[in-house]
Amino acid sequence: MTSFNLKSKGVIVDIGSGDGKFAYKLAKKNPEKFVIGVDSSTKPLADVSRRIYRKPQKGGLPNVLFIRSAVEYLPEDLTAVANQVFVNFPWGSLLAGIVNVDERIWENIKRICKKGANIDIVFGYDGLKDKTEVDRLNLPQLSKNYIYNILPKKLFEMGMDTVRIQKLYSSLLKTYPSSWAKKLGFSDGRSCYHMRVKVL
Ligand SMILES: C[S@@+](CC[C@H](N)C(=O)[O-])C[C@H]1O[C@@H](n2cnc3c(N)ncnc32)[C@H](O)[C@@H]1O
Repeated sequence: MTSFNLKSKGVIVDIGSGDGKFAYKLAKKNPEKFVIGVDSSTKPLADVSRRIYRKPQKGGLPNVLFIRSAVEYLPEDLTAVANQVFVNFPWGSLLAGIVNVDERIWENIKRICKKGANIDIVFGYDGLKDKTEVDRLNLPQLSKNYIYNILPKKLFEMGMDTVRIQKLYSSLLKTYPSSWAKKLGFSDGRSCYHMRVKVL
């Protein structure tokens, strides 16, 4: 991974970055940081991956790159590079790994972090509206006990401290700079949460 600028003041990794807009905006706003968007699917990343190599006047950015990888197989090159990780609106196996606290997934996310890094997860689903996915992935009900007690306890046992949990209402979602945040913010009021976990 030769274009990797490890001298930049901080590396941010966005896992499950979808269309890459969140990572792109983050990189644009923070030119001193290096941002890496990771997704298991290449299709949504195609446009943004082309855009970043254009001239700066046409949207090119030198401090962001996109990698195709599932969270299950994050490249060894990413080990201990991240000062901060985002996972915005995970779905599929990414969501299941996170909320079911699958050790393999969390150990992989932790592996790419430096000590003291923050992992910010924004997630939410609804037992009824998302029933097919909830049943398929065997997702737990997002009860207060699960979110505020069970999840943090499991993460602490794996060396991560949950320092913040906040319920996100649609007014906040509408202003959050990811495409899925906008979709959910303008739709049907699913409960979403922001959880910040610190790597000990
Ligand atoms: C609902 S989209 C959210 C996209 C983006 N973060 C946003 O907020 O607009 C979920 C993304 O997670 C990705 N994803 C699902 N399972 C994954 C996995 N195992 N590893 C990496 N990405 C995954 C999907 O390809 C998809 O782009």
